[in-house]
Amino acid sequence: MKKLLFWLALILLLLVAFIWGNLPKITPYYKQLTKSRVGLNVDLQPEAQKEAEFVGSQKCKECHKEQYHHWKASMHSKMIQDIRKDGSVVVADFSKLPEDADFTLKDAVYTIGSKFKQRYMIPATINGKEDFRLGNYQWNTQTGKWQHFKPYKYWYHDSYPHDNKQFPTSTTCDGCHFTGYMSTGKRVEPAIACESCHGPGSKHAENPDSPVFKASLTDPIRTNEVCLQCHMRNRDKRIETEGATVKDLWMQATDYPQGYEPGKPLISYKLPAPFSPGKETKEFWPNGAAKKNRTQGNEYIHDAMYKHGITCINCHDPHKLTNTAKKPEGNNACMKCHSFGSIIGPHQDTLEQHTHHKADSKGSLCIECHMPKTGKHTGKSPLTVRSHRFAFTYPAETKAYGMPPETNACYACHKERGLDTLQKDLEQWGMLEWEKLEAPPIE
Ligand code: HEC
Ligand code: HEC
Ligand code: HEC
Ligand code: HEC
Ligand code: HEC
Ligand code: HEC
Ligand code: HEC
Ligand code: HEC
Repeated sequence: MKKLLFWLALILLLLVAFIWGNLPKITPYYKQLTKSRVGLNVDLQPEAQKEAEFVGSQKCKECHKEQYHHWKASMHSKMIQDIRKDGSVVVADFSKLPEDADFTLKDAVYTIGSKFKQRYMIPATINGKEDFRLGNYQWNTQTGKWQHFKPYKYWYHDSYPHDNKQFPTSTTCDGCHFTGYMSTGKRVEPAIACESCHGPGSKHAENPDSPVFKASLTDPIRTNEVCLQCHMRNRDKRIETEGATVKDLWMQATDYPQGYEPGKPLISYKLPAPFSPGKETKEFWPNGAAKKNRTQGNEYIHDAMYKHGITCINCHDPHKLTNTAKKPEGNNACMKCHSFGSIIGPHQDTLEQHTHHKADSKGSLCIECHMPKTGKHTGKSPLTVRSHRFAFTYPAETKAYGMPPETNACYACHKERGLDTLQKDLEQWGMLEWEKLEAPPIE
């Protein structure tokens, strides 16, 4: 009897171990994916936080050293840097600044950005208000050259004078680049600090039992909003709520969700840049892929992963910001959820069967085919912005939509084969869904 029990227990244990070992990798995310939806219009900001004020990251550092340390090392902490405090934050070569520049290094107070391009904030009185303006040249870090900067060129065209000296950063940039500016109109702290994502923290800092917003506690789609407030291109919300035209918003058109704080319903503050399938706009290719940077949210909300409850922070640590091009996680970034032959795909049994490239080939890297480089940081920059529209774009789609061939993943590595041949390669591999052979409609 004892022997029988022993064997039964052993078999049971092995069975559990076997099932455990064979669970799809997506299992740990089951709770997240099946969470009931809160609804986009519900305010989730803790009641106590509504009375709170912004206190700045130095305060949070007192009790959250680890998060502070990771954040400080990330690019979020470096978006706006004070030139007077540390001259080395300037990445441009000012000895080569063109003669018709409307500023000098001495005029500039803050740098904006560094990684792809750097722009300069110069104190100015605009519309009778102490403000900042932007120099008419920007440094392109990727090409190592100065180039013109005309921020009124795009949708702001009819809402601001065509002169950088009359173009204020307060309405057009600062909401996304200074902590606190979005909802209070005060530059509480330069760059994207703790309270940009957690909301004002004075009450919590006084008494840690007083709650502060944490995005991951809500449903996944609302979790994304804390990133989408900035990582998504917009129009002024008043165009929708008040039927205002861009001209009506003279000197006040805004490109950020003014009034928003983490936990509040973003949809009440934000009007995403328009996109309709089949149409090319200033910001998007006709398939919805980005032509520019800062469009991760616009693309991602159309993706199946977004709809199924995968969030920005499933792939990016919110404090370290990994993974990035500089610190890539390779296929692990995807394979922590996906596995071969699993329900969420890839449906083939091995990497080589899925990609039809050797396992150690660049052609077997997930992001090369599912996040092709479709956008640029400026008109003169190289094509380096990776799409956050993860669905594969077929060579025939690229052609039918009239997109530049180099935005197609296959073509980017195989220019000599051409889109038609690459489409035939996929056909031979059996990697085409039959309807994808038809050209999609174009307006
Ligand atoms: C006096 C110490 C103290 C200060 C100052 C402080 N916190 Fe906290 N914080 C705590 C403690 C204690 C907890 C709860 C324990 C835990 O979960 O780590 C906490 C928890 C949190 C959480 C998790 C909340 C949750 O629901 O899981 C976040 C987010 C947070 N703090 C952000 C901040 C931010 C942002 C600041 C600055 C505005 C800040 N904290 C300042 C002590 C502090
Ligand atoms: C870009 C947005 C963002 C910024 C900036 C940010 N956080 Fe967070 N933080 C988050 C998100 C999202 C979570 C939830 C992470 C999770 O649950 O996986 C989080 C979680 C936390 C937690 C809970 C414990 C943990 O690590 O999950 C604490 C404490 C915290 N943050 C403190 C801070 C402090 C202090 C700063 C500034 C030094 C800061 N955060 C900056 C988005 C941000
Ligand atoms: C208040 C605006 C704001 C919010 C909120 C915000 N970001 Fe950012 N993010 C930026 C800006 C601006 C940059 C560019 C920073 C730079 O280049 O100095 C950036 C850069 C990044 C980068 C690139 C980092 C690198 O090393 O190049 C990643 C990844 C990123 N953000 C992810 C997120 C995620 C995930 C969230 C939500 C948890 C989030 N961001 C929330 C404004 C924001
Ligand atoms: C809706 C929020 C938002 C607004 C408004 C906004 N930005 Fe940004 N900006 C971002 C985010 C997010 C990034 C980083 C993500 C990316 O580039 O894909 C970024 C990136 C940048 C970078 C590149 C950073 C680097 O390290 O290379 C510069 C420079 C920049 N912005 C300048 C501006 C200027 C100037 C304005 C105003 C005319 C402006 N931005 C308005 C959110 C915003
Ligand atoms: C399924 C995983 C995944 C999701 C979801 C995701 N990203 Fe990414 N993201 C990546 C990968 C992978 C890269 C590219 C890293 C590389 O180039 O090697 C990237 C790149 C970026 C970059 C540029 C970083 C750089 O190196 O310049 C930003 C900014 C960014 N993501 C923001 C976001 C935001 C905001 C969201 C949510 C709307 C989001 N991501 C959702 C995987 C993801
Ligand atoms: C946190 C888990 C998670 C991570 C990480 C993740 N995925 Fe997904 N992915 C999913 C889920 C869940 C689905 C939805 C499956 C379904 O619809 O059957 C999905 C669907 C997809 C799809 C098919 C639908 C579509 O168009 O989006 C593609 C392609 C995909 N993922 C690519 C990637 C790539 C590439 C990466 C890495 C950069 C990645 N995934 C990382 C969970 C994840
Ligand atoms: C050489 C290009 C290429 C690479 C590299 C690649 N994929 Fe795919 N992937 C495709 C194509 C093409 C499809 C569409 C298949 C179809 O429609 O039948 C696809 C479809 C998918 C799907 C949807 C489900 C399915 O099986 O059809 C998922 C999920 C996916 N890929 C994940 C990944 C992950 C994870 C990686 C990295 C391990 C990866 N892919 C690498 C080309 C690629
Ligand atoms: C990141 C670069 C990259 C991407 C993306 C890529 N390939 Fe490749 N491809 C390669 C490399 C490198 C080889 C050489 C053989 C190998 O490594 O397997 C190759 C080999 C091939 C071959 C064998 C014939 C030859 O030219 O050597 C074909 C056919 C092919 N790829 C088609 C495609 C198609 C179709 C796609 C899109 C679904 C694609 N490739 C995406 C890099 C890429």
